[in-house]
Formats: sequence, C-alpha cells, structure tokens
Amino acid sequence: MAEIILEMRDIDKSFPGVQALRKAQLELKRGEVHCLLGENGAGKSTLMKILSGAQPADSGTILLEGKELHINSPYHAQQLGISMIYQEFNLSPFLSVGENIFLGREPKRPGTPFIHWSKLYSDAAAILKRIRVDMDVKQPVNELSVAQQQMVEIAKAISVNAKIIVMDEPSATLTDHELQALFDLIRDVQQQGIGIIYISHRLEEVFEIGHRCTIMRDGEHVATENVADLDREDIIRMMVGRELKEEFPKELFERGKERLRVEGLKRGKVIKDVSFSLHEGEIVGITGLVGAGRTEVARAIFGADPVDGGTITLDGEKLNVRSPREAISKGIGLLTEDRKGQGLILGMTIRENTTLANLTEIANGPFLNRGKEREVAKKYVDELQIKTPSVDQYVQNLSGGNQQKVVLAKWLFTQSKVLIFDEPTRGIDVGAKVEIYKLMNALVRKGVVVIMISSELPEILGMCDRILVMHEGQLKGELQRNEATQEKIMHLATGQQMAAAS
Ligand SMILES: Nc1ncnc2c1ncn2[C@@H]1O[C@H](COP(=O)(O)OP(=O)(O)OP(=O)(O)O)[C@@H](O)[C@H]1O
Ligand SMILES: [Mg+2]
Repeated sequence: MAEIILEMRDIDKSFPGVQALRKAQLELKRGEVHCLLGENGAGKSTLMKILSGAQPADSGTILLEGKELHINSPYHAQQLGISMIYQEFNLSPFLSVGENIFLGREPKRPGTPFIHWSKLYSDAAAILKRIRVDMDVKQPVNELSVAQQQMVEIAKAISVNAKIIVMDEPSATLTDHELQALFDLIRDVQQQGIGIIYISHRLEEVFEIGHRCTIMRDGEHVATENVADLDREDIIRMMVGRELKEEFPKELFERGKERLRVEGLKRGKVIKDVSFSLHEGEIVGITGLVGAGRTEVARAIFGADPVDGGTITLDGEKLNVRSPREAISKGIGLLTEDRKGQGLILGMTIRENTTLANLTEIANGPFLNRGKEREVAKKYVDELQIKTPSVDQYVQNLSGGNQQKVVLAKWLFTQSKVLIFDEPTRGIDVGAKVEIYKLMNALVRKGVVVIMISSELPEILGMCDRILVMHEGQLKGELQRNEATQEKIMHLATGQQMAAAS
C-alpha cells in the first residue's frame, strides 16, 4: 500500500456567521489522484486554503509525512512541498515561461548576483520535458492559452519539488482537447510519486482520473472511498445527502408564436451569416466546440459587440441595440460564463447585486426601497439555495458556485423577455443544477424565451427543445429534442454535414 503523505485531522474553521469546516478530514497517499467532492459551499476550497497556508485553521492537526506541522504562509507551504494551482493564475503575464517557472528562484552565475539565463532556460526546458509538455520556454505567458498557463503552473510546482499539488476546479475553462492534455499531465506527475488533490463538479472526471475520493457536506467529512467502488449515484447521494430523482427535470410546453428572430447576423470571422428564430414555450440550446462562435452570437444579440450586419426582431419590433444597457431596456438579458468579469460586483452584498440590473423595480420615488430589496434577495436566496448567513453577505465571501447563483438571481429579477444563459451551470454542484433547470422551466412557463449555451452535452440534451449546433462561426444544423444524440451533435460540431440532414 502506498505511503500516506498527508493527513488533515479534525480541521475546524469559521467565518463570521458561517462554520465552513467542522472536523474536516483528508488523507492523501503518494502518487494518488484524490478527488475532493461536495456541494457548493461544502468547504472544499477553504480546506485547501488552509493546506496551502493562505488561511489559518481554527483548530485541527496537519501531518506531512507523519510529522505534525503548522503551515503559516503560502511561501511556507511551498517550501514544504505543497503547491496550489489557483483558478486565477499567479503567473506574471509579460515574463516568459522560463522566467515564470523560476520566478524569485532564478539560477545565478557563480559568484555573481546576475541571472544565469542560459541555465534558467535549459532548466525550464528540462522540467517541461520531464512532464512531456512541448512549449517554447522564451514565450511570454500572456501569449499562452489558459490550458498552457495551467501547464506552466504545474511545471513550476514540479520545479520546487512539490510532493502535493492541489487543483481547485482546473477543468472549468478548458476545452475537451485541453482537458485530455491536462489528464495526461496529471497521470504523468502522479506516476512520479506526487499526490494530487483534484476538485471538480464534473463527476465524469472523477471516474476518469481519480483513485480515491473524499466527499464533504456542510464542512464535514462524509466518506473517503476508492473511486472504483462507487458509481455516480453513490457520489451524488453522499454529496447532497439524499437521492436525486432526476438530473434533468425537463417540462414540455406547447410551442407558441415566434418571439425572437435573428437574421443574417455577421461579425468578422467569428459570426458568419447566422439566422434562427425562437418561439414561446421552448428552450433552445446553442452548442459547439469552444471557439465555434456561440458566446459571440450571444454577445451580439446583447449589444456587447458591434456587428457588421444582420437584424434582430423581438415580438415583431426590429431592434437596434448598440449596448447592453439598450438590450436590457428591451428585455434581453445575458448571463455570462465569466462571473468575475461581467456578472458581479464582488465588493457588494448579495442584496445589492441581486437588484443591480433592475433598480426601478425597487425604487420608491428617487430612493431605493431597502425593505423591498431585502425581500427580493431573500426570495432568490431561498429559491436557489444560496449558502449564506444572510443577504447582507459580501459576494466575495461566497463559495464559487454560490457566486454563480447570485448572477442567476440578478437576471431572474430583471423580468426579461429573452434570457441567454451562457454556461449557466459551470462550477455548480449537481443538486443546485437541478434547481437551476427547474427555474428555467418556470421562466418558460411565464413566457420568457430561454437560450442555453453550453458545452455540457448531457444538459443540452436533457433540457432543450431544439438544439442549434455551431462550427467556425456558422450554424451547421438544428436538431429537435427527440432526434438529438451526442453523436449527431458532435458530428455537426466538428464541421461535418449530416448524412441525411433535414
Ligand atoms: N472569507 C470568507 N468569509 C466568509 N465566509 C466565507 C469565506 N470564505 C468562505 N466562506 C464560506 O465558507 C463556506 C465554504 O466555502 P468554500 O469556498 O470552501 O466552498 P466550496 O466547497 O469550495 O464550494 P464551491 O463548490 O462553490 O467552490 C461557504 O459557506 C462560504 O460562503
Ligand atoms: Mg470552491
């Protein structure tokens, strides 16, 4: 049996109004990929922040290779061989790959304070070679894709002789191809005896690369098991504490009149003559590989990017929206995948963020009706099961998935006619996903036109009435709910024509 390199025992941690961890436990063996699972707000990131020295625990013990120790800073953790790869990378954008790998630890020419550049680059190349990553060590990091930057972070971890690498939702922004490259890299690193703690809400990944998993709920340890002994339902049951009846609670409504029509939409090379229409009573999915132009179409309808041509008609009225502000005033909303960049103001409370896009609704003459604001925010906190001590909590203190739910609340409160959801369930736990799908049903029932952009084919197949598939800026085809399959979608998404296209 492999040797245990890390034990975290009885870790407690509270924040004002929240007990984030309650006797949390984690055990990691050398050379294993250990998945850390749990609902949004279960305490996964907090436990990892304690391990990486970013936050102190209130109590509990940490044993590294059998020795008890107190980790008092991220620097200390790094010296102990614990590396954390954050979602927002810590790389310096204008420095090269090699410089980033050795930042602050550059090799010097013997007897001088000067950096030994040729050694720095050859050492960097050797590390990349060791993990079989093919990359130019002199290229600036800001020219790399997210996936490549992640690989630089891993190379950096290896170069400090990490024994433990923590990855908190590394897959959220990767394409399928990049994800496979990351998995190859993880397998490689793991075979070199490094222990990996891997956090993700995509359970398929657990079965693909995990050896063991630890499931947490409400800050507590629920179970640690071999992945091979579990199935998807077991994991879900332990995560949410009950059986999940249906992962996709689709309701079918009668298809009504045409509401939104997009004709001849064009924007440079990213949108090439896209036309489609949406009817009352349906959820329409737009899918395709990353970079196919799905988000660009959404942004064009929302007035976020100027277009070269095309018309958008809503309820018979031709719209000429040139900014998101105008789009919102016409009843069009866009929930973006990038909650930090576009969706939320982190330094404001849940209450303020929820009502931000629809202040007129809670206005009382020239003033804001704070009571009404609170009531509205409370309603969504309940409906979406946002985990928080109160609606006055700052959004920056919420867990990643709960921040995403606040973005949803904000748009649900706008009384939009058309809502475009761009990757709405990214980073959201399985139980909360079901709640979001139910809300989509409720919106459709109220007459809202819902567009769902997603790379997750199961949710597209599970929730959409019609599926539009894009490839390189073009609409490649349309599938009805009853005929759509993963294979047919992938066929269109990779640019092939359907054999017997309708
Ligand atoms: N700085 C903070 N101030 C107040 N509360 C916090 C802070 N950091 C975390 N919390 C709370 O601690 C709990 C655990 O959060 P954590 O981020 O660890 O969850 P998580 O399991 O990583 O969830 P997710 O899957 O959504 O990322 C949540 O209720 C969160 O709101
Ligand atoms: Mg988290």
